Amino acid sequence: MIDPEQAHYFSSNADLDSIYPERIRKLSKRHWTPLGVAKKAAQFLAAKPGDKILDIGSGVGKFCLVGGFSCPDQHFYGIEQRRELIEHAEAAQALTGVENVTFIHGDFTRLDVTPYNHFYFYNSFYEHLVESDDRIDDEVDYSEGMYNFNARALYLALDSKPAGTRVVTFHSLLDEMPQGYQLAYSSLGMLLKGWIKV
Ligand SMILES: C[S@@+](CC[C@H](N)C(=O)[O-])C[C@H]1O[C@@H](n2cnc3c(N)ncnc32)[C@H](O)[C@@H]1O
Repeated sequence: MIDPEQAHYFSSNADLDSIYPERIRKLSKRHWTPLGVAKKAAQFLAAKPGDKILDIGSGVGKFCLVGGFSCPDQHFYGIEQRRELIEHAEAAQALTGVENVTFIHGDFTRLDVTPYNHFYFYNSFYEHLVESDDRIDDEVDYSEGMYNFNARALYLALDSKPAGTRVVTFHSLLDEMPQGYQLAYSSLGMLLKGWIKV
């Protein structure tokens, strides 16, 4: 049960960011989904009660926590490769009291996506294509080959899912979107897109 003090963290993006240490807050504008975007995305993905929604590259957990708070009838999962970010996400979950969220430390390309119904993707593999100033840290081996490998893994995962599967992309180059997903929603000058597999 979330008390009003905990709900306060979801009243503005600045309130949500205030949960995190300064180094993480500084990365927010470039790397973490803003509160308003996360709400719209989660509401599109939360099609049915009980749906399991996966954030591919969940960072410090902003999308999952906003989703869990806004959509109490669904469960939000986030997989994240950087252990430090998982720790920030779990600390934020404890502080906000959102229970319908689970964070998984691991590499998305090794995850079995069978249990998950719908997917959120904030261009997580793009860090392989940008200059070092734009990266979260130096902990990852960056290369165009790794971008292609990750994007291909997500393409195959989404391709394997049944009709009715929903995907939200934010700032995506769309290399990961297979044929068969139709654009059903867009916002923010097409930066935010909602897709449904037919
Ligand atoms: C742009 S951030 C988005 C964070 C979060 N989804 C949000 O919207 O606030 C992308 C995240 O994806 C993670 N990531 C990139 N490739 C990954 C992979 N193969 N497996 C798991 N996490 C990955 C990065 O470490 C980074 O934290």
